[in-house]
Amino acid sequence: MDVNIHGKSMEVLLSEEVIQARVAELGEQLTRDYEGKDLVLLVVLKGSILFAADLSRHIQLPLALEFMGLSSYGESTESSGIVRMTLDLSKPVVGKNVVIVEDIVDTGLTMQYLLDNLATRHPASLKVCTLLHKPSRCRVEVPLDYVGFTIEDHFVVGYGLDYEQKYRNLGFIGRMTDEA
Ligand code: IMP
Ligand code: MG
Repeated sequence: MDVNIHGKSMEVLLSEEVIQARVAELGEQLTRDYEGKDLVLLVVLKGSILFAADLSRHIQLPLALEFMGLSSYGESTESSGIVRMTLDLSKPVVGKNVVIVEDIVDTGLTMQYLLDNLATRHPASLKVCTLLHKPSRCRVEVPLDYVGFTIEDHFVVGYGLDYEQKYRNLGFIGRMTDEA
């Protein structure tokens, strides 16, 4: 289905209903897996904020939220592989069970950076929960423990994901059909 968002034509790939149902399932799975454990959801800014806000409300456990800011230089629809940390954790995660909450794993370079960086901080365990996975563009294999949806090689926006910082506030995930 195509919709018009602020003058741009977009194809809806994942509707709000489909996303919400899957996020609820992931939350239930995390609730089962982390019962009795000291859980930290590590939210990767900015793209994961909507996902993390919804996911955390489906996890029926006491948990802490931490944030890291990462950005990769380069063209707006291509990850350069050069990852820059723009915000670090506010508290140590040593001895905690950390779940990284990410919007999308595309080339895998950002996640690789994050896993290497966090491993040096000695969490009790470290897992990855990504809403989207685009395996066709993989440049480095990273272990993904929880995956919302596997998608084709499209540049997508909405539900946290941006194009030039816009469209993060859409409830659905779409593909801009009038962009390359
Ligand atoms: P990676 O390092 O190539 O795996 O890409 C990681 C980051 O690139 C993600 O956290 C997103 O911020 C961004 N990204 C990758 N693919 C898309 C997309 O289709 N839409 C919007 N952002 C994307
Ligand atoms: Mg981004």
